Amino acid sequence: MVDRPLIQYAVEEAFAAGVKRLVFVVSPGKESILQHFEPDLNLEETLEAGGKERLLTRLRAILPAGTQAQIALQEEPLGLGHAVWCARDFISADEYFAVILPDDMVRNDGPGALAQLVATHQETGGGVIGVEEIDPALTGSYGIAEVERDATGHQRISSLVEKPSPEEAPSNLGVVGRYVLDGRLLDTLARIGAGAGGEIQLTDGIAQFMQQHPDYAQPLAGQRYDCGSRLGMLKANVDYALTKESLRAELLEHLAQALRQFG
Ligand code: G1P
Repeated sequence: MVDRPLIQYAVEEAFAAGVKRLVFVVSPGKESILQHFEPDLNLEETLEAGGKERLLTRLRAILPAGTQAQIALQEEPLGLGHAVWCARDFISADEYFAVILPDDMVRNDGPGALAQLVATHQETGGGVIGVEEIDPALTGSYGIAEVERDATGHQRISSLVEKPSPEEAPSNLGVVGRYVLDGRLLDTLARIGAGAGGEIQLTDGIAQFMQQHPDYAQPLAGQRYDCGSRLGMLKANVDYALTKESLRAELLEHLAQALRQFG
């Protein structure tokens, strides 16, 4: 994404929300993701010797100070709920944990998406899920939440369903890939069977757990990009690049020319 791997944005967002321990759930063979976050002492030395302070600072910030990064393997692609369950050894039942789906990017100038969820968690004491209003025709691509405003103005989730058809959807409030969840959810995830698409769905686990422990929806401030799609990734690249002074003018010029040529 412009000048950093997509996963780097997720790490920075997590750090900004107060997360100190990062667990990357990956499939076998993808463990090299962790290498991106390991210190490169040779490169650091070279940059230091060359007086390249700015690059050195950026290199050292790849894994934010005070955080640790670890891998959890998901041996088989059995679904998002299963992926989260694969990180169970890192999650204790008496604490909350966060989940970021890095292909969902949220760009804004204020607090990051996860920090917005953490603030709501601190206010409500419950689990929190990022949501945004989506095109009602697209409910089949999202978890969909139905909410009720409680006395404090927070949106308590009354029902949650994974990828319903537009006819069955309880609303058009789509789940964005940001969650703050109770560690005890892991026990529920261990028990639930396959849901939509034959996969073990995080949404189903949360929906079940929620019957005893309230969860809240946090509408996300900022613009979301689905970087799991080519178009979403392209749009995000353009918009992120336009926020960078060093790229903005020339990119705008190019876009204007592209519009004339292809528009
Ligand atoms: C996952 C979740 C879904 C959520 C979506 C957001 O689906 O299961 O509830 O709305 O991420 O991107 P996926 O996109 O992995 O199919």
